[in-house]
Amino acid sequence: MRIAVGVDHGAFFMKDTVIKHIEALGHEVTDFGTYSDDSCDYPDIVKAVAPRVAAEEYDRGVLMCGTGIGMSITANKVAGVRAALCHDTYSARLAREHNDSNILCMGGRVLGHGPALDILQVWLETSFHGGRHQRRVDRISDLDT
Ligand code: RB5
Repeated sequence: MRIAVGVDHGAFFMKDTVIKHIEALGHEVTDFGTYSDDSCDYPDIVKAVAPRVAAEEYDRGVLMCGTGIGMSITANKVAGVRAALCHDTYSARLAREHNDSNILCMGGRVLGHGPALDILQVWLETSFHGGRHQRRVDRISDLDT
């Protein structure tokens, strides 16, 4: 898959590890920053990643900030984005099986490297179950403006 990755300064310390892990799983990564631990505004990173995922220029996106909350709130404003804030592998699996989430958000300051990589891997490797969940996902899209 083509994966777009973006982080703010709150998760910059984890960006390289996350990118290397995605690549090791056989995916192609584009790095949308940030490129240092200088303070930046997470909506700018979302603006670079989320519309490209919605347009299917990328198959999935991974967005990280200190808590993952700012990234997820902002990303879900973009029509066609289903961003899931996950801090455990159960949620990550269900975010794919039931919600067909196309962006994973995580908090760098919430998770250590180990849990973050496990969550990321489960999310990347889990397929959408469709069926009754497709109807619900379609109804999310009905709310797109
Ligand atoms: C930055 O200090 C922090 O607010 C940001 O990384 C994120 O946690 C926002 O939701």
